[in-house]
Amino acid sequence: MNSSNKKIAVFATILVLIAMVFFVVQDSSLFTFKENTEEYIAPETGINDPSHPDYDKIENGIHLRTGFAEGEGLQLVITNCTTCHSAKLVTQNRMSEERWKATIRWMQETQNLWDLGANEDTIVNYLATQYAPIAKGRRQNFAKIEWYNLKDE
Ligand code: HEC
Repeated sequence: MNSSNKKIAVFATILVLIAMVFFVVQDSSLFTFKENTEEYIAPETGINDPSHPDYDKIENGIHLRTGFAEGEGLQLVITNCTTCHSAKLVTQNRMSEERWKATIRWMQETQNLWDLGANEDTIVNYLATQYAPIAKGRRQNFAKIEWYNLKDE
């Protein structure tokens, strides 16, 4: 390297350094503390939060939060039947009054379900009415089926 090339190299290096300092200074956030001026926005609450507007909303006869059918005793059922398991475990079942009672007894004897006291009649009545064994709108039993035998091959 001759001396003029050396000068050019030094000059170029200085230019690069100046450019780097310039870019760093431009990004002022590196030097100044930026105050967070954004307003605090509360996280959206889910339907299981009591402050949610739809917490106890009933739409088309269905209690939205739990999926329970609207009917006398609904609140008692929500209070007593959704603390250990989901409401779905209840709504997916269909039973007679006797079998609902037996299910309750079974939970009382084996799963620590409490004594429902005077509310039991209302609860059982709700269950046996809303979740009866055969309900309109459910698939009817197959009436006419032409069974055929599978042939051995
Ligand atoms: C103290 C806890 C507790 C409460 C409260 C409770 N259950 Fe249960 N229940 C259970 C447990 C535990 C099971 C078994 C869950 C499993 O098998 O995964 C169960 C199962 C069930 C089943 C399914 C039974 C089966 O044979 O598959 C139904 C239906 C049911 N509960 C309805 C109710 C109803 C109606 C109420 C309100 C009266 C209620 N539960 C309240 C603990 C409870």
